[in-house]
Amino acid sequence: MSFSLFEYFCCKDKHMTDTSKIKPNTNLIGHNIVYFETVNSTNTVAKENDFKDGTVVIAETQTAGKGRMGRTWESNQSTGIYMSIVLMPDISADRISLLTLAAGICVCRVLTKMCNIPFKIKWPNDIVADGKKVCGILTEGVISETQNKAVVGIGINVTNKNFGDELCNKASSIYMLTGKVFERENIINAVLEEFEKTYTDFIRGKSFIKDYEKLCINIDRQVTFVKDGKTVSGTAVNVAENGELVIKKEDGTTLNINSGEVSVRGIYGYY
Ligand code: BTN
Repeated sequence: MSFSLFEYFCCKDKHMTDTSKIKPNTNLIGHNIVYFETVNSTNTVAKENDFKDGTVVIAETQTAGKGRMGRTWESNQSTGIYMSIVLMPDISADRISLLTLAAGICVCRVLTKMCNIPFKIKWPNDIVADGKKVCGILTEGVISETQNKAVVGIGINVTNKNFGDELCNKASSIYMLTGKVFERENIINAVLEEFEKTYTDFIRGKSFIKDYEKLCINIDRQVTFVKDGKTVSGTAVNVAENGELVIKKEDGTTLNINSGEVSVRGIYGYY
């Protein structure tokens, strides 16, 4: 493959991540940055290597970016942020999935402030604005007898100008929402700083569920989902302390749903 001089400099100077600019004002998270131009998935690399606590794995593109429930995450060269935070939290394995919700709050806050438009969370892990998804979060755990490890993978659509047929009604990017090109390094720094605060409070026992509920677009809305082969409808009433979405069904009974089991759909388009 050959590049013109113009393409070469565009690539090197304008689009590739400048890792020297990734310097979050944190105590732990993001002090060790592991950067790749291409990987299968930053989550996979983070899970399969012995990186130290707080390491952030970042890639320019992913060939097998993973989403929730076996889906793929479109990871085009340099249009998005593809990063995974490696954590060694002293928490039980069943609380690791709560890190998805914590990261969701942080991305939401950072993007809302930066873009000056409201971002919300579609339970459990989609960050949405103007009815479309801009960011997804996938947390994976590596459980062992000695030390549990959590990998919080964050994908943010930053400079995408459009999406293909399958995604165009569901996905958006920061550029499509604001018309501005924000530097990915600045977004990464801000997300890591915000996340470290929430994460530190969380492992010290502070709950963030009330903050999450305020940002969660599903609360007080109708949702439908398939559970054990049956389509169930109801109103999302709150989020339980373990991260489950609490649904009041049409017959008046309540049901807690776990992020691992179902994909929630609202009745208003994507929500
Ligand atoms: C989802 O919305 O279903 C979750 C998407 C998570 C995508 C990110 S991109 C960085 C990290 N590496 C992956 O393979 N997935 C996550």
